[in-house]
Amino acid sequence: MCGICFAWRKARDMQISVIGSGYVGLVAATCLAELGHNVICVDSDSAKIAALNAGETLIHEDCLQELLSRHRGTRLLFSTSVQEAARNSLVIFIAVGTPSADDGSVDLSCVEAVARSLAGAMNGYKVIVEKSTVPVYTSEWVQNALTSKGHAQAEFDVVSNPEFLREGTAVTDFLYPDRIVVGASSERATGIMREIYAPLIDGSYAQLPSAVPKPEPARPMPMYIETSPRSAELIKHASNAFLALKISFINAVASFCESVGANIEEVCRGIGSDSRIGPEFLRAGIGYGGSCFPKDVAAFRAVTHEFGFEFPLLDEIKRINEEQRARFIRKVRGALRTIKGKRLAVLGLAFKDGTDDVRESPAIKVIEQLLEEKCQITAFDPAAMDRAREILNGRISYATDPYAAAEGADALLILTEWKEFANLDLVRIKRLLRSPIVLDGRNVFSQAEMAEAGLTYHSIGRPTLEVSPSLLKKGQSAR
Ligand code: UDX
Repeated sequence: MCGICFAWRKARDMQISVIGSGYVGLVAATCLAELGHNVICVDSDSAKIAALNAGETLIHEDCLQELLSRHRGTRLLFSTSVQEAARNSLVIFIAVGTPSADDGSVDLSCVEAVARSLAGAMNGYKVIVEKSTVPVYTSEWVQNALTSKGHAQAEFDVVSNPEFLREGTAVTDFLYPDRIVVGASSERATGIMREIYAPLIDGSYAQLPSAVPKPEPARPMPMYIETSPRSAELIKHASNAFLALKISFINAVASFCESVGANIEEVCRGIGSDSRIGPEFLRAGIGYGGSCFPKDVAAFRAVTHEFGFEFPLLDEIKRINEEQRARFIRKVRGALRTIKGKRLAVLGLAFKDGTDDVRESPAIKVIEQLLEEKCQITAFDPAAMDRAREILNGRISYATDPYAAAEGADALLILTEWKEFANLDLVRIKRLLRSPIVLDGRNVFSQAEMAEAGLTYHSIGRPTLEVSPSLLKKGQSAR
């Protein structure tokens, strides 16, 4: 029997529970089933479990619906009972929410509740895996929650296995990762974790005819990195903080480009082509958002402070991120002279492209500020309008497409980097706008395209492109 078949057959026997059916939990549960394991995904929200049992994914994520249909009812079951799932499992992944407390530290009450439930469900050796992003030392803390209930250390292991998936590409990030990090302190747990991920470690998953297509830049095989639980916990916080640092760094450089008339796109090409730096995460814009970066930078700061280590660089990452939005609002004010009562078309509500998630979305924060300054806003987003309505309610209007949003507006603002926006008919946009002004918070367009369409174009870290007043008559090109 070939090595690949052996790894695949061994992996198929694993009984796994995933507690939590949010982005991380649902994607992990579905992908673990795809790797051949028998998975029970648990959530205390019975309405959510009913929807999942009915085949609804509840989140906008490529390939998820297909994999859910493939495994639901066979290798992937849903339940509301942590204890029942845990009793039937060798491995329990904890993927519950870890929101921020008021001081930026992580609120671990959901993790604690799961640990308490697990203490009442121990019927043999178990591996308890932290999948949620948690601060360093949480594994010890979960361990103590069980030992304090009388369970001997030999009955279980706590492992840290952080997840690095991005929203929008979560399924392919899970199945074709750059690296898999496993922090375990016993040989037994280390061996079990290796077996779970065997089809990814040896590349056999990718060779299955039914495998989810591999994205272009994926590595042929992931790095499999074994560490202590504490190091694994730290790797997750440090990775997200470093990515946020890269974004804030480039945004600060973009602001300086504006001061001296340089162009951030050219600067990024020059910086990113150094293989030690790399081109990723150097897109200047109105800053990062989402459910991870803002929360994880704050949580990393809080945990370093708790252990007596001051890390002010983390405060600076956040400060630059907030300043980036304030700077964009100043640009809107500058472009329109006065903004009170102005009608603005907004393209983009999600915190980034490819998702309907509006948590900590820079677009929503910019809109909130513009509403405070009494602007009237009509917005369009390809996926996030329903989610945005839950936050903004009827305070803005929603358009059916970008052109309907632009009609009669005093300016067009681009706040999310949707690829769809790059294909807009700019001449049509110019005809629809009351004033031919575009403020692009994500540098979606090239200056040449805007010049061609005759639009005044403000972007991030690039010189403003003013249309000469003599060329502002309708339908006339700037060239
Ligand atoms: C992030 C991490 O990438 C992922 O590894 C981790 O598991 C969870 O957090 P995600 O929040 O899904 O993933 O989004 P990501 O693609 O990283 O973007 C985060 C934010 O940064 C978005 O608001 C995006 O618009 C912004 N961003 C990203 C930039 O402003 N510039 C960039 O160059 C890249």
